[in-house]
Amino acid sequence: MIASKLPHVGTTIFTTMSRLAAETGALNLSQGFPDFDGPPALLEAVGRHVLAGHNQYAPMIGLPALREQVGLKIQRLYGRILDIEQEITITPGATQGIFCAIQALVRAGDEVIVFDPCYDSYEPSVQLSGGHCVHVPLQPPEFAMDWQRVREAITPRTRLIILNSPHNPSGAVLSPTDLDQLAALIRDRDIYLLSDEVYEHLVFDGQQHASVLCHDELYHRAFVISSFGKTCHVTGWKTGYVVAPPALSEELRKIHQYVSFAGVTPLQWALAEFMAAHPEHVTELPGFYQQKRDLFCQQLAHSRFKFVPTAGTYFQIADYSAICPDLPDLEMAFWLTREQGVACIPVSVFYQRPPADLRLVRFCFAKREDTLRQAAERLCRV
Ligand SMILES: Cc1ncc(COP(=O)(O)O)c(C=O)c1O
Repeated sequence: MIASKLPHVGTTIFTTMSRLAAETGALNLSQGFPDFDGPPALLEAVGRHVLAGHNQYAPMIGLPALREQVGLKIQRLYGRILDIEQEITITPGATQGIFCAIQALVRAGDEVIVFDPCYDSYEPSVQLSGGHCVHVPLQPPEFAMDWQRVREAITPRTRLIILNSPHNPSGAVLSPTDLDQLAALIRDRDIYLLSDEVYEHLVFDGQQHASVLCHDELYHRAFVISSFGKTCHVTGWKTGYVVAPPALSEELRKIHQYVSFAGVTPLQWALAEFMAAHPEHVTELPGFYQQKRDLFCQQLAHSRFKFVPTAGTYFQIADYSAICPDLPDLEMAFWLTREQGVACIPVSVFYQRPPADLRLVRFCFAKREDTLRQAAERLCRV
C-alpha cells in the first residue's frame, strides 16, 4: 500500500455532482462553468493562431503580448503600473498559479490562514508544502470577515493568509476598509498574502472590486491571481495569471517552470489579441452576469428557498431550511439533482468543520436564460 501524501483527498464534489447531473439528465448548476461559449472573436482567433503555426513552447513567464494586455488592464482598472517582465506570470489556470505561489512560500511547519467556507485547492497545496491550514470561519448569512478572529489566529508561525474576493461559494466581497484592517494586522510581521481574485470582474450593484492591486502596502507582500477561464467564459482553457512584486514572482517562477514550464501557446496569442481588440469585455461583465443573477433570483423568489442576491461571483447561495429542515446539505444536493432535476453544490464541503445546522446549497448562474428559467421553475415546485 502506498502511504498517501493526501490521505483525506478523494474525488471532489464538483466532479461527483457534474457526473450525477450527466447521468440523471439534471440541469447542471453545480460546478462553476458557463453553459454558453466564449466570445466568437476569441474562439475564432485560437483556430487562426493554431493554423498560423503558434504551436511551440511559449516563453516560460508567458507571451509578451499577453502580459502587456494584462498590464494595461490592471493599469486601467486598478491604477497600478506593473513591470510586465518581472511582475506578471501566465500560468495554466489560476489553480496552478495558486499551487506555485503556495509552494514558493510555505515551508514545513508554517501556518496558513484560510477562511471557511473556502475553495478546495488551497489546503492540499499547503499540505504538500509541509505547512498546515488554520481555518477561520466566516459567519453566514453575510460571510463577512471577523478581523478580531484573524488577529487571534495569527501566531509566530503564520506565513501566509489566503484571501478570496469575490468569494466562492458565498459571493461576499471585501471592502477597501477590510484591506486596511488586514494591512494593520500584518504590518510588522513576516506574513504574505495570496489574493485569489478569479472573480474580479463579477461584482454587482455598482460596487467596485477592492483588489489587493489597489493597495500599495498589501501588494508588496502579495500574489494576486486571476483566471481567463472565468473572465472569458472558457474555463476549459485553464489559463490564468499571477501578479506579484519581482522578488515574489522570481520565487513563483522557479516552481512554475518545473510544474508546467509554460501556458498553452495559441490560447495566449488568442487572449492577447482579444484583450487588445475588446477592452470593453471586462467592463461589460458585471452587467452581463448581474442580469443573469437578477433573472435567477426573480424566478427563485417564488420558491421556498431563502436567499440574499449575491454581491459577486456567479454563484447564488440558497437556504433550504423552510423545505427540509432536517436534511443535511449533501443529501439535499443529491435529492435536488436526482429527484428535482437541478444539480447544485452543498456548502458544507467548503468547510473543515461545517456548522451543524448549515442548510445551504450553491447554484451556479453562469447559464443561458432558458437554463436559468427552467431550473428556477423546477426549484419553485420543491
Ligand atoms: C475561488 C477560485 N479560485 C480558483 C479557481 C480556478 O480557476 P482556474 O480554472 O483558472 O484554474 C476557481 C474555479 O472554480 C475558483 O472558484
